[in-house]
Amino acid sequence: MTDNAPKPARRRAAVILAAGQGTRMKSPTPKVLHKLAGRTLMDHAIDAAEGLGCERIIVVVGAHSPQVGEAARKRLGEGATVVQDPPLGTGHAVLAAKEALADFDGDVVVTYADCPLTTPGVIAPLFDLLAGGTDVAVLGFEAANPTGYGRLVLAPGHVLLRIVEEKEADLATKQVKHCNSGVLAADRKVLFDLLAQVRNDNAKGEYYLTDIAGLAHDRKFSTRAAFAPEPAVQGVNSQAELAAAEAVWQRGRRNALMVEGVTMPAPDTVHLSWDTRIAGGAVVEQFVVFGPGVSVASGAVIKAFSHLEGAVVGEGALIGPYARLRPGAEIGPEAHIGNFVEVKKVKVGKGAKANHLSYLGDGSVGEKANIGAGTIFCNYDGFDKFETHVGAGAFIGSNSALVAPVRVGDGAMTGSGSVIVKNVPAEALALSRAEQVVKAGWAAKFRAAKQDKKAKKDKK
Ligand code: UD1
Ligand code: MG
Repeated sequence: MTDNAPKPARRRAAVILAAGQGTRMKSPTPKVLHKLAGRTLMDHAIDAAEGLGCERIIVVVGAHSPQVGEAARKRLGEGATVVQDPPLGTGHAVLAAKEALADFDGDVVVTYADCPLTTPGVIAPLFDLLAGGTDVAVLGFEAANPTGYGRLVLAPGHVLLRIVEEKEADLATKQVKHCNSGVLAADRKVLFDLLAQVRNDNAKGEYYLTDIAGLAHDRKFSTRAAFAPEPAVQGVNSQAELAAAEAVWQRGRRNALMVEGVTMPAPDTVHLSWDTRIAGGAVVEQFVVFGPGVSVASGAVIKAFSHLEGAVVGEGALIGPYARLRPGAEIGPEAHIGNFVEVKKVKVGKGAKANHLSYLGDGSVGEKANIGAGTIFCNYDGFDKFETHVGAGAFIGSNSALVAPVRVGDGAMTGSGSVIVKNVPAEALALSRAEQVVKAGWAAKFRAAKQDKKAKKDKK
């Protein structure tokens, strides 16, 4: 993502706050490692920072959940996290990143790791303000219910006089609907100089980051607010709020796909992942779930109740209904994968068909091959996985078991019900099942004998 982000005129860094306990999630998983659209909340926040072109990203973590720091370092490298212990407020949290940014010269944006809908486009106006001469820029929103938020005390022109926390607010201030989202940006030196002056003589006994707005204004720094729609800056504090944020994200992404020409007759029933790619001209029917890592080409139709994950679907392919594509499934153009067919790590050639009740795992299916109903690629012996390769134009009879490692050559056929354990040469027929025995009149004789016996028994 960093590669695609435009290079800003001034250098940018981000401090992402993630030291909160997240107790209201009531989960052994730390809050910011919960997932939205298949990606952790923290990764969404890091994506936003990267999308803004931040070349330095520092995540402030608490001592209570080391997994959060590990996850951040795994993505961003050693030195990308600082620990705030104990947590003494948002101002104190940002101060924890002071040393890490000591050699950084440029603008710093502060964001929260639990606000996954705060995208680069939402934050960008703060950098625009800084570029226009504002010293401290704060992202606000108009809250439907402002209770609990810090209030922005504004003068005309979105000039910010100060931010008053709910607990410090008098009745008049509590009427203010302009609230603080928590996202704020300033030049690195300005930010840390102001933070050094923040005190904790307030209702919560905390160092409020928000105090820097008033401090800046008093020192004749230019301090301004930009505004975002409320859902874009909504934080996640509970499982219900996570689900609500997910719903907002899903709706937004589905709408974006429809704008790009994807047909979705029942969009509300389609579940996407953060990285789902669907080209315009594709159709996604009802109740389709996309796990991470899926791309669908134009003209493909994903029929109802299909589940796709880590899969590539080629142009004009037909998937489902009730298909399951697992990681490594590469479905070629115009191929058909039908109901109750599971494909994992198999490359399916152009125009090939596996229409009913099959497991295709590890291997390949050549162009225009036909996989009969109930075919199983027996890929696992309890210890290792092996590959099955079916050649172009081959015809696999229904209910065949292809025991890997095995190859069926181009144009070859296998008889229904065969267990194929040896390679089949091109254009050959392989049969491996008991020879059929026919006993003329046997069924009629059998029934007569049985009926006779039953009749004698009933007479007694
Ligand atoms: C904060 C803002 C408030 C704003 C609101 C928006 C302050 C003082 N108040 O209030 O103006 O309207 O967010 O949601 O900044 N955190 C740390 N270390 C700490 C405390 C917090 O890392 O010591 C992190 C939390 O993990 C969280 C974020 O900072 O991601 C905000 O903390 P929270 O306690 O939710 O602040 P609020 O009281 O909601
Ligand atoms: Mg909060």
